[in-house]
Amino acid sequence: MTDPQTRGVPIHGATALVTGGYRGFGRAMVAELLDRGAARVYATSRTTPPPGDGRVVPLVLDVSDDGSVAAAAQVAGDVSILVNNAGVFLNTPVLTAPFDDVRPEFETNVLGTIRMARAFAPILARQPSSAMLNVLSVLSWLAVGRGYEMSKAAQWSATNSLRDALKDQGTVVTALHVAYMDTDMTAGLDVEKADPRLIARQAVDAIEAGTLEVLADDTTRWIKSQLSVQLTG
Ligand SMILES: NC(=O)c1ccc[n+]([C@@H]2O[C@H](COP(=O)([O-])OP(=O)(O)OC[C@H]3O[C@@H](n4cnc5c(N)ncnc54)[C@H](OP(=O)(O)O)[C@@H]3O)[C@@H](O)[C@H]2O)c1
Repeated sequence: MTDPQTRGVPIHGATALVTGGYRGFGRAMVAELLDRGAARVYATSRTTPPPGDGRVVPLVLDVSDDGSVAAAAQVAGDVSILVNNAGVFLNTPVLTAPFDDVRPEFETNVLGTIRMARAFAPILARQPSSAMLNVLSVLSWLAVGRGYEMSKAAQWSATNSLRDALKDQGTVVTALHVAYMDTDMTAGLDVEKADPRLIARQAVDAIEAGTLEVLADDTTRWIKSQLSVQLTG
């Protein structure tokens, strides 16, 4: 889905920030942005990241912490592409998990995305064209009984609200939905997993084209197609 009223952000020469850019899908996003000619990519981790490619600026960031997000916005004031990738999966059954375990999933996946959007909206507004890509999941639409999917559903709704809120300033907000990828998050799962590099390629294509939604694989496309089916029984 591409909005004809909007336009994408050229990657060549752009400055981007990828939350959680040192592991898993975030690392694949950083590599893809650099391969496509980004001039600078802020890559974040909660712990002090190692130095990398000269175009990578390491940043310590915890998206669940107001002060940490504000400090990142002070440093990365030249960003035109924000990738809200940071996320946690804590395997929290809806009826039995302690709220102390469920809360970090919402704090990181939902409020972390909104916190980053609030802090970086004025920065993105200063750019001639700007983009925010939020890393969601097929589980935004598929409940299997845990806090993670509830948080991804809420993050999807937040993404839709942010798209509306940022439209007038010209920031295109893209939702990336994907099933299993081969990262630390799925290390214990014996399932088919996509190569994060192939998903990152689709994500960066979407940023460049101004695409509003990416359904990255067959499973995700099928689940999305079932949303209009009425629940029975
Ligand atoms: N793997 C999958 O199958 C899959 C499928 C659909 C969607 N996703 C989504 O893809 C995104 C990336 O996940 P992944 O698979 O790459 O998982 P991962 O390998 O476990 O990596 C999680 C990333 O999130 C960062 N992070 C976690 N909490 C954070 C916080 N409070 N503040 C800042 N950064 C934080 C981590 O950074 P540090 O540990 O370095 O601080 C790490 O880079 C997540 O949003 C996840 O929900 C994953």
